[in-house]
Amino acid sequence: MKTTITIHTEAAKHKVDRNIYGHFAEHLGRCIYEGFWVGEDSPIANMRGIRSDIVQALKELKIPVLRWPGGCFADEYHWKDGIGPKEGRARMINTHWGGVVENNHFGTHEFFDLCEQLDTEPYICGNVGSGTVYEMQQWVEYMTMDGESPMADWRKANGKEKPWKLTYFGVGNENWGCGGRMRAEYYADLYRRYSTYVRDYGENAIYKIAAGPRGDDYHWTEVLMREAGPFMDGLALHYYTRVKDHSIIVEGADGNRIYLRDPQAVRGQAVDFEESEWFAIMKAAYFTEELVEKHSAIMDKYDPDKKVALIIDEWGTWFDVEPGTNPGFLYQQNTMRDAVSAAISLNIFNNHCDRVRMANLAQTINVLQAVILTEGEKLILTPTYHVFEMFKVHQDAVLQPIELQSAAYRCGEEAVPQVSASASVDAEGRLNITLCNTDPGSHAEVDFRTGGFAGKQISGRVLKASSMNSHNTFDDPDQVSPVPFNGAKLHADGFEAQIPPMSVVALTLS
Ligand code: AHR
Repeated sequence: MKTTITIHTEAAKHKVDRNIYGHFAEHLGRCIYEGFWVGEDSPIANMRGIRSDIVQALKELKIPVLRWPGGCFADEYHWKDGIGPKEGRARMINTHWGGVVENNHFGTHEFFDLCEQLDTEPYICGNVGSGTVYEMQQWVEYMTMDGESPMADWRKANGKEKPWKLTYFGVGNENWGCGGRMRAEYYADLYRRYSTYVRDYGENAIYKIAAGPRGDDYHWTEVLMREAGPFMDGLALHYYTRVKDHSIIVEGADGNRIYLRDPQAVRGQAVDFEESEWFAIMKAAYFTEELVEKHSAIMDKYDPDKKVALIIDEWGTWFDVEPGTNPGFLYQQNTMRDAVSAAISLNIFNNHCDRVRMANLAQTINVLQAVILTEGEKLILTPTYHVFEMFKVHQDAVLQPIELQSAAYRCGEEAVPQVSASASVDAEGRLNITLCNTDPGSHAEVDFRTGGFAGKQISGRVLKASSMNSHNTFDDPDQVSPVPFNGAKLHADGFEAQIPPMSVVALTLS
């Protein structure tokens, strides 16, 4: 069957928020240390301790927003440990992630320096699980207060005269789990309390983000929206794409869930996998759409004007760690499977940009679905990096709603759509379309009807591979990287394209 995609240019009304292409930096494994941060004395080229090759690679992606310091780490982080002269900074044990010593050399000042070097918006996640209201209030004051105040004076004494601009602030992380194992009702009350003291100092207006549900925990969204909806700007959904979940979920009579780690759970290998595991990841990525639609429907009940954004501030694939690496570091390789699943998720976020206004891939470097992997001074760009680079054309462009009738990709008894797509018109008036073929065995024949959009020329790039588990290595860093795509032919109502098996394609019609 041929896939048909009809683009409804006449129905375009929402912008694809650039923050959908956001990232996430956690003090986990080698994300911060060896990833972003090498320290001023490192032989690796750096500016004030921040790796220059990383900054250069991420600037290519135009990363719009960066979340920090966690994750589970955020609810154990005490910001005062990470300011002032480095030799005097407190050392702590990163109990969540490998039990290693955290020397706090990368703290608030270093994070803002990183954001300035990247030209990206900072998004800070505060500590509700083990921190106090006072501590959170003081952190915001330290970062954003101009003039005279105890925290502003302390910041100045630490070398930063003027406050930083900070918009995005998360009030806790996964408070149903590592952030305190709370019930939704309890967290909703705590959110109301903590967020009251997350103040706007001077001109700085904070956009407050509540810790949202895990995957399909609709009870959490219901309670949060009902009890605290008017006090938040965003609700953060976390969803990881896995072959199998690693939790045993116990649901209580009150609708609240307890998530227990299943010691038997196997998540599957990142590189060494069968087609059934390829399929499982495609299916899990498509499930994102159901999650977005069902959580949005609950939000619509309490917030019909869609003032509160659904923010997917942790998403991506999660496999078993690379054999021989620290199990607490969550280091995994990244293959063509990651690339196609990222394309599915990003297309879903784009297509739901009326409610989804930020997403943060977990995690930028050396952890889970990383866009960059490092080994000493070497760095490689993963297939997922290339997807973000190909999709960046959608940032702040106007979404063009599509009607998609896809052929099926079948595996055993099950099937998913073979083609996923989204389209937008950029500031220069070009129509950009991103799509992927989820089927590792067949081309996808696609007929595009471009509605009122009359383009005269079409160009494109494709990210494809010779096998499902093709990936980039430190010895062969460009095995999976985009090449020009010549498989699209214009016709009177649009164009036709033949999309290679297991590939991601970005097309521009102008
Ligand atoms: O991204 C790894 C961890 O996954 C984060 O720290 C946590 O928020 C989530 O459970």
